[in-house]
Amino acid sequence: MENRSQWGSRAGFLFAAMGSAIGLGNIWRFPATAYESGGGAFIIPYLFALLTAGIPLLILEYTVGHKYRGSAPKSLGRVRKGFEWIGWWQVTIAFVISTYYAVIIAWAIMYAYYSFNLSWGDDPTSFFVGEFLTLTDPGTFGGLVPKVLLPLLIVWVITLGVLSKGVKKGIEKANKIFIPTLVVLFIIIVIRAITLEGAASGLSAFFTPDWSSIADPQVWVAAYGQIFFSLSIAFAIMITYSSYLPKKSDITNNAFITGFANSSFEILAGIGVFAAIGFMAFTYDTTVSQLAAEKGVGGVGLAFMVFPEIVSQIPGIPRIFGFLFFASLVLAGLSSLISITETYVAAVSEKFNISRGKSIMFGGGFAAALSLLYATQGGLNLLDTVDHFINNFGVALAGLFEVVALAWFAKGLKGFQSHANEISDIRLGTWWRFCLGVITPIVLGYMMLQNLRAELSAAYGGYPIDFLFNFGWIVAIGAIFVGSLMSMKKWPNNELDQTDSDD
Ligand code: PHE
Repeated sequence: MENRSQWGSRAGFLFAAMGSAIGLGNIWRFPATAYESGGGAFIIPYLFALLTAGIPLLILEYTVGHKYRGSAPKSLGRVRKGFEWIGWWQVTIAFVISTYYAVIIAWAIMYAYYSFNLSWGDDPTSFFVGEFLTLTDPGTFGGLVPKVLLPLLIVWVITLGVLSKGVKKGIEKANKIFIPTLVVLFIIIVIRAITLEGAASGLSAFFTPDWSSIADPQVWVAAYGQIFFSLSIAFAIMITYSSYLPKKSDITNNAFITGFANSSFEILAGIGVFAAIGFMAFTYDTTVSQLAAEKGVGGVGLAFMVFPEIVSQIPGIPRIFGFLFFASLVLAGLSSLISITETYVAAVSEKFNISRGKSIMFGGGFAAALSLLYATQGGLNLLDTVDHFINNFGVALAGLFEVVALAWFAKGLKGFQSHANEISDIRLGTWWRFCLGVITPIVLGYMMLQNLRAELSAAYGGYPIDFLFNFGWIVAIGAIFVGSLMSMKKWPNNELDQTDSDD
């Protein structure tokens, strides 16, 4: 019936899925989260979240995409018409995230270049906010930052260029180059890092278990949050990617491979990052916990303030270490950005019945234009706020809606289970339905309440309330609104009714 694009090979799909999963979340989010949530003891809630929510949901999303062969809104709408808006909601969230994710990659490109001269000088923190971003107060935008514009242009040219070549010749091919290269670069970084003086103290800070943390519900929430973000679940991504799978595909096995590869990379990143921080503590004659308290060990601060400082201190050829680190951020980021942009490129082209090229031009063009907002002097505060709200009240909430809709309000999970079982080696049993129908909704529901409570008890990041309202709440709630609006438009040729276009 319809002529849907397809991956050229199983490895191609897996590289693309891993490319999406392995992103900044692995490099600057996981190590910090694990460190703050009990160190080595975090492995228990983490594995629990991976096995009860991460992989089961990944299997579910792969099944939905594979069975219904459409972008997230189309596939979910085919499961049940009333679910289409959840797909659009996720696509809108993906769109918002892509606009600032691109800017972070642009910074990383600049920093890869700066590595050659160690341009950040003796005080990388003030270099980043002062000289590089010329940061203004929250709520003001200031002017565009010229240094970010060229790399930002490069990011969008690569991303949209890859997408315009299509699924097999574009996305698949790019990931087949990006991901192996990333792994090689990162292994070199880790080897260098663990051979630095003081590395052992960093590793011991990272791995030493604090078993008491397991009793803390916040730690479990952190584990689920990390798994969701890291596996690109509830971003509309995995449904879209799996809709390009050929009919004969082992869904369950693919989900396990993606999940384990992603987690392996996270642990590798934890080792690299903390070995480097151990070295920094050694150089400053202080302890890792002292450093972590003073400077933080995650996010933008880790990548653009702490790491440059570490790089400058590395004996031998610091430039190469710096370049490899920022090049890794760029590769990990680009493959994630490609996947997140594909969600709206696919959805818009299907719903408005326009070619892929036009959809890339409109959707991608619009995202690229909006990303300029974060390329301003106030960009960092804006990015930080939008990211916080769209993750806590976008991705997490949309994930909850998705799993509840599919588990409770579709025809039950059995249909998905038998679809997956028909084509997969590993057979799904009752445990799978129990994880999705009971455990995941409970944990995500609890997580939402926690997030809400935290949000209402203190202004996030100490930002002004009206700033948080305009760029936090409005964006997060706006995504629901835009999502619902998009689902009201009729599909061309009643496409939603052609459920099993392949069978
Ligand atoms: N899994 C990604 C990461 O770890 C999450 C993500 C995907 C974020 C796509 C943005 C775009 O970074």
